[in-house]
Amino acid sequence: MKEYPVLSAKNISHTYESKDGQRIKAIEKIDLNVMEGEFVAVIGTSGGGKSTLLKIISGLMEPTTGEVEINGGPVDFQKNRIGYISQSDTLLPWRNILDNVSIGLEMQGFNKAERYERSKEFIDKFGLSGFEYKYPKELSGGMSKRALIIRALVMKPSIIIMDEPFGPLDVFTREVLQQEVLKIWKEEKTTFLYVTHDIMEAIYLASRIVVLTHRPARIKAEFDVDFSLEGSIEDIQYHPEVIEIQKEIWNVMREEVARSRQDIGG
Ligand SMILES: Nc1ncnc2c1ncn2[C@@H]1O[C@H](COP(=O)(O)OP(=O)(O)O)[C@@H](O)[C@H]1O
Ligand SMILES: [Mg+2]
Repeated sequence: MKEYPVLSAKNISHTYESKDGQRIKAIEKIDLNVMEGEFVAVIGTSGGGKSTLLKIISGLMEPTTGEVEINGGPVDFQKNRIGYISQSDTLLPWRNILDNVSIGLEMQGFNKAERYERSKEFIDKFGLSGFEYKYPKELSGGMSKRALIIRALVMKPSIIIMDEPFGPLDVFTREVLQQEVLKIWKEEKTTFLYVTHDIMEAIYLASRIVVLTHRPARIKAEFDVDFSLEGSIEDIQYHPEVIEIQKEIWNVMREEVARSRQDIGG
């Protein structure tokens, strides 16, 4: 682990330009390496530039300047097998769960037997067995998220990139899924880049936390989470080391939160 960067963002900046000529600088001069096997959480304010950063890193959007490399080469969404789960990702309502989670394999030309076999393996492993032939509307919000994660995992991605994936869920469902993500990280040794605005979630999940400034997003601070704790967020939240790092992160976030509050457009 930690031998080479799976992901390397080099000096990337992005400015949006709307049709009426208004320019919004969303991110500025970001250098970010994610090493193999790392779990990097990115924290930032709302409207601060987090999703812009992830879309560029995933290869879905070109930065205004700078470049992104995955496994030492240019980023290519198809070829690099990036498991990107966006804030608004949903399952296709007309496909059952099995056909939803195997869609990436289908696009890559795997035959039905191969893609079903691999998909069923992950469905069993990550808690959706029995739901293969159900349709998305028959699933709870938490189960749908689980299916989206399985859909990414079956591709055996080099990196899974998640953008505030559990934001809309209730706290109990979120906790189950956070534990599931940790289990995937440990068992599959997948590299993760995970955006959240929730400091506790970042501490719980990540091995390294990167704090962004409010728009334009720059890297403001980094924290290693090098203590290991057992249990759920509920179990660890009063642990002295957790309280300490939480304070430190709040100290660097405070100024950015204040800036984001003044920023009506954000
Ligand atoms: N497609 C777009 N066109 C113009 N402005 C955009 C677009 N997407 C995002 N922005 C602006 O860029 C800034 C950063 O947005 P975003 O990256 O979505 O922030 P976050 O994910 O941190 O909430 C915001 O001010 C937002 O309004
Ligand atoms: Mg966002």
